[in-house]
Amino acid sequence: MGLIQALRGTRDILPDEIRYWQWVESVVRTIFDRATYQEVRTPIFEQTALFERSIGEATDIVGKEMYTFKDRGDRSITLRPEGTAGVVRAFIEHSLAAQGSVQRLWYGGPMFRYERPQAGRYRQFHQIGVEVLGSPSPRADVEVIALFNDILQNLGFKTLELNLNSIGTLSDRQRYREALISYLTPYKQELDADSQDRLTRNPLRILDSKDERTQIILKEAPNILEHLSPDSQARFDQVQQLLNDLGISYVINTRLVRGLDYYTHTVFEIVSADLGAQATVGAGGRYDGLVSELGGPDTPAVGWAIGLERLILLLQQLQALPHPTIDFYLVSRGSRAEAQSLVIAQTLRQQGFTVEMDLSGSAFGKQFKRADRSGAAACLILGDEEAASQTVQLKWLTTGEQEAIAQTDLPSVANKLREQIHRLRANH
Ligand code: HAM
Repeated sequence: MGLIQALRGTRDILPDEIRYWQWVESVVRTIFDRATYQEVRTPIFEQTALFERSIGEATDIVGKEMYTFKDRGDRSITLRPEGTAGVVRAFIEHSLAAQGSVQRLWYGGPMFRYERPQAGRYRQFHQIGVEVLGSPSPRADVEVIALFNDILQNLGFKTLELNLNSIGTLSDRQRYREALISYLTPYKQELDADSQDRLTRNPLRILDSKDERTQIILKEAPNILEHLSPDSQARFDQVQQLLNDLGISYVINTRLVRGLDYYTHTVFEIVSADLGAQATVGAGGRYDGLVSELGGPDTPAVGWAIGLERLILLLQQLQALPHPTIDFYLVSRGSRAEAQSLVIAQTLRQQGFTVEMDLSGSAFGKQFKRADRSGAAACLILGDEEAASQTVQLKWLTTGEQEAIAQTDLPSVANKLREQIHRLRANH
């Protein structure tokens, strides 16, 4: 592998793409602010045991996907494969529960999983996520789902589908697990190899199998919703009712069980038909047992995470983002003019204009060509004559109109120029 090549499963986000990221980031920030969610930033690596305990030893993530290494002090360290475990660790460590009220937190950043890379699946990828800690109410479940929905709507999505299920309490799941094992055991030899392996270790995950034969066998398999206690069933009904009240549509998918062990009750995924194999844009659910499992006070919680690479792949298909606009392109030639152009650029930027300064020192003709290509509203020209008279030629690039302005007048005509640029853009 060449030295000048990013590692497999990692990628550079270049300027053309970063605009989408910044747009998404600004949309989610506004939505989180309105719903009083506060940002937390936790470390990118944590003790390996934290992830083993939260995500679960029998999961794919812990079993085969973690970036785990010994540091120089011989501690086992893991690059975070997801954000929930770190947020819960911070919640316990800083006694955020003691502050009484519900904690509404959000986070974003890189996550790491050693998976087989393909479109929409990377080894370093990015999530934005929310965690609401301290409320058992179905309204909390629906609040976070509604936030997800708001984000998608604000970004212009219409066709994403919300898949919803309930996996009940630990004891509901225990009963279901037994029912599933006794149904599947007679078919053991016909299941795909992964599913055979999961039959004793993590049977619920068999419901996720993409294997055709396994899928056929699963058609008649017991349904998790029929194994919920009356309380869990009532809770799930409430979640659905509240979603209906908000007009958020969803599909019940009884096969949806999620790949992390900490979930209880509500689980959900948002999928798109336009993403191929890696169709899940984001996912989450309730995890009422995790905080106490990690040694904190009994704290019900619910959250989700969006995979940003997948979201942005979809956004790029959906719409082209305009390039950032430039107000002035500064052309200059000759040493005095070049020195003055630097001062002018600075003055105009301080007035709030976007200014690109040509640094080439090449012939005027070449600089003008670049000015045209830049998409700037106007070109500012400084040659020897302007330098001597301390003026600048301002040329509107759409009309070709040109006027001379004294350099010292630039701050006082700034508002007039701003209006002209504004009008020009409005006409286009
Ligand atoms: P997750 O389903 O493992 O859940 O990941 C959430 C999202 O991250 C996925 O739906 C997907 O969009 C994205 N993602 C996962 N792996 C990759 C990858 N290798 N490449 C690109 N994108 C990926 C969680 O991580 C939970 N912590 C969500 C949660 C928060 N549940 C409760 N609170």
